[in-house]
Amino acid sequence: MAITAGLQVSPTREIEGSAILTVANLEVVYSRVIVAVQGVSLKVPEHSIVTVLGTNGAGKSTTVRAISGFLPVDDAEIRKGSIHFRGQSIGGLPPYQIARFGIVLVPERRKIFETLTVWDNLRIAHVRNDKPSNWNQQAERLFGVFPALAARREQLAGYLSGGERQMLAIAQGLLCDPKLLIVDELSLGLAPNLVHDLMERIQQLRHEFGISILLIEQDALSAIEIADYGYIMEGGRIVFEGSPEKLRNHKDVQEFYLGSGGDGRTSYREVKQYRRSRRWWG
Ligand SMILES: Nc1ncnc2c1ncn2[C@@H]1O[C@H](COP(=O)(O)OP(=O)(O)O)[C@@H](O)[C@H]1O
Ligand SMILES: [Mg+2]
Repeated sequence: MAITAGLQVSPTREIEGSAILTVANLEVVYSRVIVAVQGVSLKVPEHSIVTVLGTNGAGKSTTVRAISGFLPVDDAEIRKGSIHFRGQSIGGLPPYQIARFGIVLVPERRKIFETLTVWDNLRIAHVRNDKPSNWNQQAERLFGVFPALAARREQLAGYLSGGERQMLAIAQGLLCDPKLLIVDELSLGLAPNLVHDLMERIQQLRHEFGISILLIEQDALSAIEIADYGYIMEGGRIVFEGSPEKLRNHKDVQEFYLGSGGDGRTSYREVKQYRRSRRWWG
């Protein structure tokens, strides 16, 4: 693939601190034949924010569905590798057991109940929790991080803006008492200033709730701003990894993923298309 031509896989670097999540050599297949993830290894240290970046179809959602146990829904399975949560093997367990460990996924395009109020959406998430904690306390903490939801608590969720819907989806996830919160494509369809604001809130959540966060993103720039470590995925593999500084300073990452390739191209997707067309025609 043109985009990975200049990228080298660096040897897996030890990230500081003990890991809440360790994925090693993960391979996932759909319908027993389509290999979507090949030999992916990644680590989320306790209380950290780790991001997995990559273009459409890279295998990011498949990886997080494997971590949270949702593969069977799509006729997919883990063929190789392992997934450990605080040293305990969780690969292949059903979603409800994985959720009990404290792994909560906010999936891509998470559905909220549009005909219910914001408040009722939250209450539902709360009662779904096996061991619900004090509701008033939880609601107060959530509204502290997301004041926009507090202001709209009596409104129907169907009237929320794109950014507020994402806030509500994350708030619902938090009501499940996660230790590791996985957010798949928070930025999807949102304006850059909204994404920036949401990312700051994600950072705030880490401190407020004392959790670890795995952030799946196409919007590399905003994710790198708040992450402690990042992985870049292409074609089902990790092709590059490092600290935000290392990612920012790597020439190919800058050009392909951070959109500083010049010629007025502002996103790595455009750079990618440009590269491809150059390769094709000359
Ligand atoms: N339900 C499915 N059945 C078959 N193949 C799938 C399914 N979902 C995803 N894939 C394939 O797996 C690969 C990775 O997809 P995905 O994990 O959704 O990537 P990303 O989240 O990075 O966009 C793609 O080639 C995609 O076509
Ligand atoms: Mg995806």
